[in-house]
Amino acid sequence: MKTYFTSTLFRKTLASLSGVFLVLFLAGHLAGNLQLFIPGEAGQKQFNEYAFFMTTNPVVNLLSIITYSAIILHVLLTFYLTIQSRNARPVKYAVSSGTTNSSWASNNMAVLGTLLLIFLVIHLRSFWYEMHFGSIEKDIWGKKDLYTVTVSAFHELWYVSIYVISMVVLGLHLKHGLESAFQTLGFRTRKYSSSIKAITTGLVLLIPITFASIPIFIYIKNI
Ligand code: HEM
Repeated sequence: MKTYFTSTLFRKTLASLSGVFLVLFLAGHLAGNLQLFIPGEAGQKQFNEYAFFMTTNPVVNLLSIITYSAIILHVLLTFYLTIQSRNARPVKYAVSSGTTNSSWASNNMAVLGTLLLIFLVIHLRSFWYEMHFGSIEKDIWGKKDLYTVTVSAFHELWYVSIYVISMVVLGLHLKHGLESAFQTLGFRTRKYSSSIKAITTGLVLLIPITFASIPIFIYIKNI
């Protein structure tokens, strides 16, 4: 039986809400990572204390579980919706110009999302896995030295390049993702259209550029 809860609209709404939640996660994650700009031992001490708090506080642990669930839900739903819309239109649009039908990013959301998933696997293996399951050394204050693990990783040009390229991908994914989420959630009315556009453009530029500046800053500082 087809109900609202099995409808495409419900799935699109859940995909949008999980996406918006993940943008909020990104903003928080970015704010925490800004501590990597603090120079010397003060930065090391502060970042490792922050990482300790983030892995031991029960409220943060609950938020982490919600974040992992939102990622899985978002991936499964958007994957399903992409397959569904491809099956509904087996013949591609005869003309698919960027301006008339849809933008380059919207046509390639599945590719951008898959690239981000690959980035996430590399990223979590490097830092999250090391923090939770690796044999990380302690700093002089007795906390796991995630600061040194993170900073050392960004001494490698190839690793910095992966981050910079992935942040371009993130920007394109966020641009189309946020625009279509606001559309699905009903915020893109005539009245709100220009403010929604301003919010989207601001986030789409600010989040990826600031994330990318962290590995670039650490790499340049080390040359
Ligand atoms: C310069 C950029 C970034 C740096 C330096 C960074 C750093 C880190 C570090 C050190 C951790 C491990 C924290 C811990 O387990 O306590 C972590 C976890 C994580 N990162 Fe990043 N990150 C960056 C960008 C990103 C981006 C762009 C995404 C998503 C697209 C992302 C998604 C995650 C997720 C989902 C976790 C696991 C969070 C949790 O366990 O609650 N990170 N990151």
